[in-house]
Amino acid sequence: MARVHIPKPWNIPEREVTPEADFINRRRFLTGIAGAGLSIAGASLLGCESNSESKTPTKSDANFTNFESFERNPNFAKVDRPLTDEALAAKYNNFYEFGGTKSIWKKAQALPTENWKVEVSGMVQNPRTYDLDDIGKKFPLEERVYRFRCVEAWAMVVPWTGFPMRLLIEDVQPASAAKFVRFTTYYNRKITKGPFWPPASRLPWPYTEGLRIDEMANELAFFAVGIYGHALPKQHGAPIREVVPWKYGFKGAKSIVKIEFIDKQPATFWNTLQPTEYDFEANVNPNKPHPRWSQATERMIGPGRASSWERRPTLLYNGYAEYVKHLYA
Ligand code: MTE
Repeated sequence: MARVHIPKPWNIPEREVTPEADFINRRRFLTGIAGAGLSIAGASLLGCESNSESKTPTKSDANFTNFESFERNPNFAKVDRPLTDEALAAKYNNFYEFGGTKSIWKKAQALPTENWKVEVSGMVQNPRTYDLDDIGKKFPLEERVYRFRCVEAWAMVVPWTGFPMRLLIEDVQPASAAKFVRFTTYYNRKITKGPFWPPASRLPWPYTEGLRIDEMANELAFFAVGIYGHALPKQHGAPIREVVPWKYGFKGAKSIVKIEFIDKQPATFWNTLQPTEYDFEANVNPNKPHPRWSQATERMIGPGRASSWERRPTLLYNGYAEYVKHLYA
């Protein structure tokens, strides 16, 4: 039987990581495939997306009201580079449930965040279902400025509000046999419709991610419920998402509905789709190229076209080696 090569959605990032000339060549190549009758419909695949500074939705309707009162943790007060402009970060997102482009912020407003619940189950002594009120009351919220690095080689610096994952571990008391945690995110086919190419039905929904328990217990591992001093807007993963700043951004599942403590490494969304390109560990590493591009440098989100954004060297563990290198000795 003849094998038809169906391009995958993870081809899309090449426009950011590829030198312009190569990108144009590849674009011609892809256009050629489309002309030959294979289905390439993703508009973003055929054009470089820019990041305009026009008005963006940066606020959320999630029901935390007193974000101003959450103090910045002095240990994570700033990093070696300026904060990313809030409106730019809010318009350049990955949220495949709503589409395969960077400009999904409008479509993501369809995410229903009312009466949100997060079920914590599996190998724990105290299984719980938290609502947002429980989370606000039970866990002391704080602000942390973290570097963020996407596997596609774009980066940003943002202030998250939330709480260390360690506090949730203490609350639910995992059994000693629990070695991993799986995060499952919101999925409802009537609402989360994207991407249209390849048909969303072929992807391993819901979006899931996972960590080892010792990674989850690390001081840096964080659940964010806010960003830039207010509740998370939907496109950033309202009302609650993971933030693991020493790993590539795809490890940070958005809009979490379930957290399970388990004894085996879980199957996760990107790792299931393409294990050679998206490994489970996914630690930021300038010396380990992605199979299709270098990870030696990164581009800081800015105005205009991605090709004009400031380029910086990538840091091992995204600059957090002192906190995490012992985990991988
Ligand atoms: N979580 C869900 N549920 N769906 C997604 O598509 N994309 C991941 C991660 N979490 C994703 C997700 C990827 S690839 C990245 S880089 C970050 O979210 C982007 O986060 P941001 O849009 O808030 O910058």
